[in-house]
Amino acid sequence: MDDLLLIADNSDPFVEYFNFGVKLVPKDVFLKDSFLKSLYEKHTFNAAILLIKRKNIYNWHIDDNRGASLNMMIRGDNSHCLFSNEPLAMVNSFIELEYKPSTYYLLNTQQHHSVINFGEHRLMFSIEFDEDKNSLDYYDLLTTLGS
Ligand SMILES: [Fe+2]
Repeated sequence: MDDLLLIADNSDPFVEYFNFGVKLVPKDVFLKDSFLKSLYEKHTFNAAILLIKRKNIYNWHIDDNRGASLNMMIRGDNSHCLFSNEPLAMVNSFIELEYKPSTYYLLNTQQHHSVINFGEHRLMFSIEFDEDKNSLDYYDLLTTLGS
């Protein structure tokens, strides 16, 4: 986590990627984490810190390529991540993913999701598997992580 904060706060710029600001997390950094190392041995991935700027909304969407993701909040107390399993309409019901610190969450990014950030810059550790949604989905990963 300290390594992630150092990367988040270093002077390298965030690069635009899928409408996020992104800083890549080097492989030697994320492989220090034994959980990520064991996951990487089953499904390789890249890892990054994703920035959503203050007072921004990342509107409802389904990820283009990612079947699932694994996230951990780094900084972003006043932001809300919402999921809806309904087709998008003027009004949708949702559930909130309430991130707890230093905790990984597996997300089904093929369901509609959205982030609203009321606070300052929101920083999320997030991984992108080399396999896309056609070869690796949320349910595959649930099985992997459960075994
Ligand atoms: Fe997404």
